[in-house]
Amino acid sequence: MAPVPRRGVIAVTGAAGFLGGWVVRLLLDRGYRVRACVRRVDDEARTGFLKAMPGYASGRLTLHAADLDRPGCFDDIFAGCHGVAHVAHISDYNDQGYVRRTCDHIIASVEASRSVTRVIVTSSVAAVISEMDLQEVVRRPVFYEDRYPDEMNPKRTPERGQGYSMGKLIAERAFAEAAAASGFWDAVTCCPGDNVGPIQSAHQKDMGPWQHHIEGMLRGRYEQNGVYRPWMTVDVRDDAAGHIGLLESLSVRNGERYIAWSTDARNVEDVCASIDRLLPELRHQWTAPVDPFPDRLKAREGEFRAIWAQAELRNERIRAATGVSFRPLDDSIRDCVESLIAVAGVPVATRPAAAPTAPAPG
Ligand SMILES: NC(=O)c1ccc[n+]([C@@H]2O[C@H](COP(=O)([O-])OP(=O)(O)OC[C@H]3O[C@@H](n4cnc5c(N)ncnc54)[C@H](OP(=O)(O)O)[C@@H]3O)[C@@H](O)[C@H]2O)c1
Repeated sequence: MAPVPRRGVIAVTGAAGFLGGWVVRLLLDRGYRVRACVRRVDDEARTGFLKAMPGYASGRLTLHAADLDRPGCFDDIFAGCHGVAHVAHISDYNDQGYVRRTCDHIIASVEASRSVTRVIVTSSVAAVISEMDLQEVVRRPVFYEDRYPDEMNPKRTPERGQGYSMGKLIAERAFAEAAAASGFWDAVTCCPGDNVGPIQSAHQKDMGPWQHHIEGMLRGRYEQNGVYRPWMTVDVRDDAAGHIGLLESLSVRNGERYIAWSTDARNVEDVCASIDRLLPELRHQWTAPVDPFPDRLKAREGEFRAIWAQAELRNERIRAATGVSFRPLDDSIRDCVESLIAVAGVPVATRPAAAPTAPAPG
């Protein structure tokens, strides 16, 4: 329908989260007025970092209590907004009726506002690549926006771990259909890859999951990734910038989706090894990941790794629509590690100091 006006009013759901917090900060940096939606405004541990942003002191950033489980609670918040970045998680992706209801709550508040012209729906690459049968990746190894998981696979069920991917697709479609029916606003989906980068608040170290895995690496214990998939990453700041670019873009259309990732891919044990390479002063002790998988999966590790190695990650579409550029994963890992230590006080498992050099004879 229409991009948001520069310096307009934007509501952000999930504003206390890892990604939502960066969407808020970068919107403020670009001059917008921001309504940050959180479940509990008075939860200082989760909202203190938002209140410390300069825009809060002036009133350009305001905080609002809203729970996706409660219909109507976004009505007053969205009234007068130009755009909505719907970044929040929901409580349960496995209950498809509940997923749909949370969408309907947001949609009804957007409709009621009569001011919102664009909604960015945060989905995931899980809605692009999550397959019950990895042979689908062999058949269709190019990961781009028009690729969908094999939705006809009878094993694609919440019980088998596909609830998140299925729930994200329900949301993408619910918003696109509602916006098309309305004709007053459009819904554009962003599908982020694995977010890595700096946390802004200590509570975010437990979320993620990728920064939480890096926390485990720093502490000396972390797990192998599901079916040996390499991390397919985006810096959380670039992801946030992509969301804002989609709010502003003149070229996007209702129902389109845009993948946000740098196209960097790295195995989890190599992410761990990167820490010492990037920050040798830390003397971080590399450890091998704990492999939690049953023997039948472990026996196929080489096969799974070979399949993932064929995958071709593409991001031309979001770069063309928004002009966003993606920083290298090394920068994201470095800044994530430093923030985990500085913001959340995460201790680092270090290797023994090098033995002192023997004094030169004579
Ligand atoms: N992190 C990634 O690598 C990644 C990758 C792909 C897609 N995504 C998507 O990006 C979005 C943000 O992810 P994230 O990692 O930033 O998550 P996060 O740090 O866990 O933050 C999610 C936020 O969602 C809010 N939330 C959860 N249930 C809610 C409910 N019932 N009502 C209102 N708010 C609710 C929470 O709000 P409160 O703090 O106020 O309780 C929380 O701050 C999600 O939609 C996720 O699926 C993330």
